[in-house]
Amino acid sequence: MRIKPWMYLCFVIHFTTSLHAEGLFPFVINTWSFTNATEKAWTILYEEGGSALDAVEKGCTVCEELQCDGSVGFGGSPDENGETTLDAMIMDGKTHDVGAVGSLRRVKSAISVARKVMEHTTHTLLVGDQATKFALMMGFQEENLTTSASAELYDKWVKGSCQPNYWKNVMPDPETSCGPYHPVDIKGNEVSCSIKDEGENSYIWNHDTIGMIAIDSKGHIAGGTSTNGASHKVPGRVGDSPIPGSGAYVDKFVGGAAATGDGDVMMRFMPALLTVEGMRSGLTPHKAAEKALWQIVSYYPDFMGAIVATSINGKYGAACHGLDKFPYAVANPELQSVTVMSVPCISVGKYFT
Ligand code: GLY
Repeated sequence: MRIKPWMYLCFVIHFTTSLHAEGLFPFVINTWSFTNATEKAWTILYEEGGSALDAVEKGCTVCEELQCDGSVGFGGSPDENGETTLDAMIMDGKTHDVGAVGSLRRVKSAISVARKVMEHTTHTLLVGDQATKFALMMGFQEENLTTSASAELYDKWVKGSCQPNYWKNVMPDPETSCGPYHPVDIKGNEVSCSIKDEGENSYIWNHDTIGMIAIDSKGHIAGGTSTNGASHKVPGRVGDSPIPGSGAYVDKFVGGAAATGDGDVMMRFMPALLTVEGMRSGLTPHKAAEKALWQIVSYYPDFMGAIVATSINGKYGAACHGLDKFPYAVANPELQSVTVMSVPCISVGKYFT
């Protein structure tokens, strides 16, 4: 018998509904122990019967308002000019639609602006001043994102000769001096340096992102991220968080994943996509996340980062590298309330011995 397109469609519908029938949802998972965000998402999903998209947007918004760990929302990670800029993304598993903002200036509600990009344009990512202009058109308020804490952090950095910073192959020597910098001929081996090779432990705390995946009671999945990026970044820098497949990714047939950590490295590997594809090939969420991290670590053994993942039926896991362990928050009907889990991190030594 020849397989007709409608038969294939019936199979997909049957396959996905039977997965959903077995699923443990509503469900929410997010990076770190940002439990206020998880609580908000869980209330929307469980008590209000709301959508996965609303849960992700409102959950991440809580973190933006509370300035989770100083690395989400306003008043954190000032760039080389002392300005806080925001990256965020939201992805709808039902439609595979994405909205994102990068280096958003002077507007606090980054993930909500990202949602407007998704719902009111056919674009995926808007950046910088033009993203701000778009946000104002959508009714958001223009505000200064600097706080006394971020101004103090910035002053301290300038007084400390702008250390650490993200420059390499420039003059004056970026390891001892502030800019402005000029490029040097790298073929001449004059200068080559990178602060990330210097074992700056604090750097993981520089890259905390809320990454959240939610599945609502209808079995629809959504994912999102929000961050203020990396402290002392070069102005204009956009990290991994607003990049679909890197910061987060969802697939309505498979599941979703979200990442946190050194975004400049992670966005070279698309770890959220890799994790979802790992699950598609039959790996558990934990193993799929681990496999994605190994790909990064094989190039960057000092890399610090973590991934949370869920299958479309609510089986979840996480993996990390560069820390001892990584906390993440979960809620589902079995746990009943928001629960902080912890996963021990993989290490290069373990892999190569
Ligand atoms: N993962 C956040 C960032 O590096 O921008």
